[in-house]
Amino acid sequence: MADWWDADGRRHRKQFANAAAAREHEHRETALAHAERASREMKLATKSGGAKKARTESVKATMEPAKGKLGVMIPGMGAVATTFVAGVEAIRKGLAKPIGSLTQMGTVRLGKRTEGRSPKVKEFVPLATLDDLVFTGWDIFEDNMYEAASNAGVLDYRLLEQLKPFLSSIKPRPAVFDHNYVKKIDGPNVKKGKTKMDLAEQLRQDIRDFRKSSGATRLVTMWCGSTESFIEPTEAHQSLKSFEKALRSNDEMIAPSMIYAYASLMEGVPFANGAPNLTVDLPVMLELSRKNEAPICGKDFKTGQTLMKTVLAPAFKARLLGLSGWYSTNILGNRDGEVLDDPGSFKTKEESKLGVLEHILQPGLYPELYGNMYHKVRINYYPPRGDNKEGWDNIDIFGWLGYPMQIKVDFLCRDSILAAPIVLDLVLFLDLAQRTSELRGLGIQEWLSFYFKSPMTAPGLYPEHDLFIQLMKLKNTLRHLKGEELITHLGLEYYD
Ligand SMILES: NC(=O)c1ccc[n+]([C@@H]2O[C@H](COP(=O)([O-])OP(=O)(O)OC[C@H]3O[C@@H](n4cnc5c(N)ncnc54)[C@H](O)[C@@H]3O)[C@@H](O)[C@H]2O)c1
Repeated sequence: MADWWDADGRRHRKQFANAAAAREHEHRETALAHAERASREMKLATKSGGAKKARTESVKATMEPAKGKLGVMIPGMGAVATTFVAGVEAIRKGLAKPIGSLTQMGTVRLGKRTEGRSPKVKEFVPLATLDDLVFTGWDIFEDNMYEAASNAGVLDYRLLEQLKPFLSSIKPRPAVFDHNYVKKIDGPNVKKGKTKMDLAEQLRQDIRDFRKSSGATRLVTMWCGSTESFIEPTEAHQSLKSFEKALRSNDEMIAPSMIYAYASLMEGVPFANGAPNLTVDLPVMLELSRKNEAPICGKDFKTGQTLMKTVLAPAFKARLLGLSGWYSTNILGNRDGEVLDDPGSFKTKEESKLGVLEHILQPGLYPELYGNMYHKVRINYYPPRGDNKEGWDNIDIFGWLGYPMQIKVDFLCRDSILAAPIVLDLVLFLDLAQRTSELRGLGIQEWLSFYFKSPMTAPGLYPEHDLFIQLMKLKNTLRHLKGEELITHLGLEYYD
């Protein structure tokens, strides 16, 4: 007898020949459930007509200028967080370039192709500058950012030495932590409180203290903490009233990341979720976000393997090439890899990674091409690799008359190097959203899907995973807000 978990996190017992057969069964069931869920969501969205009336005209939204400092608060000062903060400081000192950041290096085409207008994103909309950023964070370990960055082993020590005084000055505040949610690690730097509401109050006080001590005029919270164990929403997450009651009664279904999100949103601070945890993907957080005009977005940074998946899968669908199987495996040796070695945390990550293909390929619409695809994702903790992850994909496709072909992708990537510019862009765009009349009261910022493996959407709406559609959505949102014409790529007028 062995245990296996279904896509809804329910545990089942069944007779299997061995542990591998049990995992195999679990993967198959999860993939099937995802395919069914995706086609259900699509039907639902079609029935309800999706969003109300499509907004096709551009408006000129009010965007308050980015005056003063922008405070960045980071729960989880590990590899991603330190690579981001060290990177910002290195760029400010002229030691490196912001490669990979759309806000720093990207452009946005305006008007017709013949007009030659392509300003930089940061010149087109009023973003905070890198010099405006000030930082704080929380962690269960007491290491300052210099020590944490040295331990993470992502950046060269020669670069870190040049940034040492700055990084050493950022020390983690005691964290809100629950070992049941992250089983592989434990640390001394944690808050104590009788109830989860007490802990939330302490976080709110930290936020107020930081606002005062840093002199920041605006704040943003970026979850860069470990991946928490898989859970499903319950009654406690359905409204502010039930959530606050659950905080007071120490409901075990309230994860630490939710307490940070609650504290931020209560203080009117936007929140982005870089991990696959539920965190802000809950009715209570949507309610709070809209009420306090503190935008939210998530979840799970789209960095290596999933980035490639959301580029390749749309190409197969565009050319109507079939897919019989996609096997993805990873080896990584950083602390994130160690945390994901726990089945509960892995389950959260697996859910986030699996949804992508079903939504892009739409097996319900193309049953002959994608009706029988087999999708499997593995993550293996392998310490020698550190942060330099290797993601392998074996893709079995078929073409004309059903003839099979194979594609192999071997991405030797650097996890945190890919994640850091995403963190920067999210910080700057979330702050922009809060200063923008049309965005600040929306709650979920779906236009930031571009950055996530599992983009949050309005209830009943299926997520858009195709990277290039996501990019178009992001840039069109900026054009729309600035009263510029949306780009549809129709282009017939060039031939009039
Ligand atoms: N690097 C990537 O490419 C990538 C991509 C997608 C998602 N992510 C996610 O981003 C997160 C950060 O990744 P990382 O590589 O920096 O991991 P990491 O293990 O180096 O850092 C996470 C940090 O969070 C701390 N932490 C855990 N629980 C906490 C809590 N309740 N409060 C405060 N601190 C807490 C840990 O002590 C650790 O220092 C992970 O959840 C990871 O899955 C990373």
